Amino acid sequence: MAYAITQTCCNDASCVSVCPVNCIHPTPDEPDFGTTEMLYIDPATCIDCGACADACPVDAVRPADLLSGPERVYSELNRAHFADESPGTVWGAPRFPRSLPSAASAPRVAVVGTGPAAGYTVQSLLRSTDAEITVLDRAPLAGGLVRFGVAPDHPATKRIGDTFAGALRHPRVRVRLGVEIGGNLSHAELAAHHHAVIYAVGAEASKDLGIPGESLPGSLAATTVVRWYNGSPEVPEDAVDLAGERAVIVGNGNVALDIARILLSDPDELSDTPIAGRALAALRASKVREVVLLGRRGPEHAAYTRSEFLAMRELRGVTVHVDERGGESTAADPDSKAALLRGLPSGPVDLGFPPPEGKRLLLRFGSAPSAVLGEHGVRAVRVDGEDVPAGLFIRSIGCRGVPVPGVPFDAASGVIPNERGRVDAPGTYVVGWAKRGAHGGIGANRGCAAETVDTLIDDIVAGRLAEPARGPKDFERLLRGR
Ligand SMILES: Cc1cc2nc3c(=O)[nH]c(=O)nc-3n(C[C@H](O)[C@H](O)[C@H](O)COP(=O)(O)OP(=O)(O)OC[C@H]3O[C@@H](n4cnc5c(N)ncnc54)[C@H](O)[C@@H]3O)c2cc1C
Ligand SMILES: NC(=O)c1ccc[n+]([C@@H]2O[C@H](COP(=O)([O-])OP(=O)(O)OC[C@H]3O[C@@H](n4cnc5c(N)ncnc54)[C@H](OP(=O)(O)O)[C@@H]3O)[C@@H](O)[C@H]2O)c1
Ligand code: SF4
Ligand code: SF4
Repeated sequence: MAYAITQTCCNDASCVSVCPVNCIHPTPDEPDFGTTEMLYIDPATCIDCGACADACPVDAVRPADLLSGPERVYSELNRAHFADESPGTVWGAPRFPRSLPSAASAPRVAVVGTGPAAGYTVQSLLRSTDAEITVLDRAPLAGGLVRFGVAPDHPATKRIGDTFAGALRHPRVRVRLGVEIGGNLSHAELAAHHHAVIYAVGAEASKDLGIPGESLPGSLAATTVVRWYNGSPEVPEDAVDLAGERAVIVGNGNVALDIARILLSDPDELSDTPIAGRALAALRASKVREVVLLGRRGPEHAAYTRSEFLAMRELRGVTVHVDERGGESTAADPDSKAALLRGLPSGPVDLGFPPPEGKRLLLRFGSAPSAVLGEHGVRAVRVDGEDVPAGLFIRSIGCRGVPVPGVPFDAASGVIPNERGRVDAPGTYVVGWAKRGAHGGIGANRGCAAETVDTLIDDIVAGRLAEPARGPKDFERLLRGR
């Protein structure tokens, strides 16, 4: 028996460093780590010690023989990843992060944000330095997108929030919520009280399509919808109207799939998840029977990951139909994402008609909307010259960063410009989506945090950080005053 990695893997590589035979790949220092959708266990080398299963924060590692139902496919997916390795491969030892030499005095570090990038940064600072850490977030609850982004029907992924919460309870960490840097506290004030400030502020602005009708009621950004079903206090109770039979979503990334899945799921199956009560009530009364997912490129370039698409195919009571206008589902290359469409019902669909009985996810590729139509709300979406009746239009085309006043910002790319996490402002660093743009799952932030902390350690060792003008007590007084 060997262990296998399954759907919920978020690539954070926590398992890699505990495996005694280094059979989990790609490791963060292997070239394909940056592009892989998940990690895999080499079944020929695994010695079944179970250490990886204990280390995994999202419960993704299981004994391969015990996988059942839709998860059984992961036994083969793990094995197939190593098909080109010669038998008896002995994997080299993994590398471990370095630590701040103990002679260096403990720095005072502020981390802005409580999402995954902040969580991994705090873990890394605690492990590699003696830093005293202040964590701040403008939100009243910690967690960033783990709390207000990750879909409620992904409980194992949400559980990574418990791991981060553990780090935030460490005696060397103080958490201050409801503090917005650039709002009720300035960057200069924060910097004056700390040796270093690390921004982990994510990428919170939704991108727009720039088409007519985009601002009509019923035309929403994906971030509004996900915050609504995750219970964010920043989104009104009635933000999402489910009175129409069809919803159109632009973009086919994992966020689009999350929303489609929640809109089409049986509400009873969502009732024991952390979904917001208002969303569950609206879903029980929902008239939505069809979600149309528009991808502007072909299925081989779909932005969703294989694991999320495979889960979508298994959704009970929902038909996934390919609006096959150009032979999309017959791709020859089994490694192409287009091959994921094999075996699905397909054929051209006339979207001018109301959706058929039952619930359906309709995938249309090579297609983009040119206008949202309606007088007081969304009535239809113009797609490829055709008016498609719909009551809800969602743009799920990614996010971009929001500038923090006083901190450098590149408006073109929407990130805080940096070199290995170092920002061109004294004692200022960046991590996560604010550093790399809105790409990559939770786990991608772990290596990103290690890099930023490594850069910070370089600067401490080189004596490049100035002593803060004011102390921790002054800082607490300042916060209380606000
Ligand atoms: C809808 C959605 C679902 C996702 N689901 C998954 C999933 O299931 N699995 C997966 O692997 N990945 C998922 N991801 C990707 C994952 O969430 C990101 O990789 C990750 O959240 C990025 O982390 P971050 O810390 O950089 O940003 P965030 O998680 O956005 O955290 C940023 C934090 O900074 C705070 N902040 C912002 N500005 C300020 C300020 N000026 N002052 C103080 N605080 C501030 C915010 O309140 C927030 O708490 C999802 C992404 C989205 C959008
Ligand atoms: N379960 C999970 O693991 C999970 C869940 C949610 C999110 N995430 C991760 O979070 C990150 C962000 O996800 P995301 O779905 O927001 O973004 P994404 O993966 O970048 O997908 C964005 C989609 O929008 C399309 N798009 C962009 N601009 C467009 C335009 N102007 N017109 C039409 N279509 C446009 C893209 O098409 P092109 O491909 O043609 O650019 C793509 O299909 C991803 O790394 C994702 O994997 C992971
Ligand atoms: S069970 Fe043990 S040997 Fe096998 S992959 Fe996990 S940590 Fe490595
Ligand atoms: S989520 Fe992290 S620890 Fe779990 S299997 Fe994936 S890479 Fe390993």
